[in-house]
Order: sequence, then C-alpha cells, then structure tokens
Amino acid sequence: MENREKPIGFFDSGVGGISVLREAVKLMPNENFIYFGDSLNAPYGTKSVTDVQDLAVKNAEMLIGMGVKAIVIACNTATSVSADILRLKYPHIPVIGVEPALKPALLHKENPKVLVMATEVTLREKKFKALLEKYSDLGEVFPLPCPGLMEWVEQGVLEGEAVEEFLENILLPYKNKVDAVVLGCTHYPFLKDVINKIVGENVVIFDGGAGTAKELKRRLAELDMENKGNEKGTVEFLNSKGSDREKALCEKLFYL
Ligand code: DGL
Repeated sequence: MENREKPIGFFDSGVGGISVLREAVKLMPNENFIYFGDSLNAPYGTKSVTDVQDLAVKNAEMLIGMGVKAIVIACNTATSVSADILRLKYPHIPVIGVEPALKPALLHKENPKVLVMATEVTLREKKFKALLEKYSDLGEVFPLPCPGLMEWVEQGVLEGEAVEEFLENILLPYKNKVDAVVLGCTHYPFLKDVINKIVGENVVIFDGGAGTAKELKRRLAELDMENKGNEKGTVEFLNSKGSDREKALCEKLFYL
C-alpha cells in the first residue's frame, strides 16, 4: 500500500471522538479512517494523569501497529496530558490533538461570558491553564467540570427526561447568564441540542471538532501525505468492549 493510502487512526476514551471523526470525513472523504473507542476504560476524565497517559500510549501503539499514517487524539482529556508524549514517541507521523475551542468562543463577540464544559482532568491540567492565561482577558471564563456526563453518550442516551434533568442540575445556574458554551469534551457535541435548550437558545455553542479536522488536513498537505485518489475512503470502527452494541452505537453517532 502506498503511504498516502494508509488510514488515519483516531482514538478516544469511548464513542465521543466520533464528533471529531465525522468532521474529518466531511473534509477528507477520500481518506481511510480507523476509529478506536476505549469504552472499556472510560471515563478517562476522572482518572489520574499517569493512567490516562498509559492508556493513550497503548491506544496509539495499537493504531501504529495497524499502519496508520497519522494519529488524531479525538479526546480533550488525552490530548491535554499525552499529546507531547505521543509526539516525542512518534516523530515520524503527525499527531493531532483536540482542545477546548476557547479562543473562537472568546472572539465571537466583545467581552463575552463563556462557560467551558469539560472533564476534571482537562480543566485541572496545565494545557487548559495556559489557554486561559493566553486568552482570558478577552472575556470572562467559567470552567465547569462535568463528571458523569460522558456516560449518557456512552449509553446512547442523547435526549429525554433523564439526561435533561442531569444537565439541568449542572447548567441551570448559567441559564441566559453566559453568551457562549465551549464543549471541551468530544462526547458533549452529541448533547448539544439539550444543552442549548437549557442554557438558552441564543447562547452560541462551540466545539473543537471542525478545527481539529482542518488542522489534520493542513498537516497532511504540508507533509504531502494526502490521499489523492478519487474513491470514497473507508471508516472502520473498533472498540475495546468489542461488542456489537458499541459498534452499532458508533454507526448511529457517525450518521446522526
Ligand atoms: N471524550 C473525552 C474528552 O474529550 C473524555 C471523556 C472521558 O473519558 O471522561 O475529554
């Protein structure tokens, strides 16, 4: 197989990274993709930094073993604590991460109030602190750790009374009090409609999926690694739980 025809490997702690994958497929339909969801070890966002790093290295090793030409860490949590490690370990291929879309949210209007929903690890670690430091004078930022939220998406529950009640418990204090919400975990875009309904329909929602896909395309072009074929590429779903249920959920989320 020619180098450019090799697949691009994505991984996440579960099915959330499909929100990034679908943006990449939209942008590069002729590329081949492998998506690995580590649902067996989810959630990552409440684990220790070293546990997340070990899992990220394991996932990347597996994808490298499958001959990928690039890796996308489709998980804000894993990006936050392991992007540097993976880049050092695999200097021969591009390693792209996803991070909370704080900058576009802060720039979308003058001096906005921005709520950032993400995992505990993402909000606690130095990558997010650095992002805050760089852009926080553009507006007011409210970081909100959301333990327990990704589990709804892992269960395939994207709407209904139960998930609305869960979200109301954490979001009602911000209803119509913020201008934007940043979805700083790749699972949350699948709950965007419910989140918008609770925080207020005029609140603008941002996520890092499209930006990450653009960056992936830019890096592949820069390294002359794009698949130039005209045929539609393939998308393969793998999951550490290995069950038909996970595979079906991946497909459901991908085609939403
Ligand atoms: N999807 C992941 C993220 O973007 C993490 C969810 C979790 O495993 O806690 O942060």
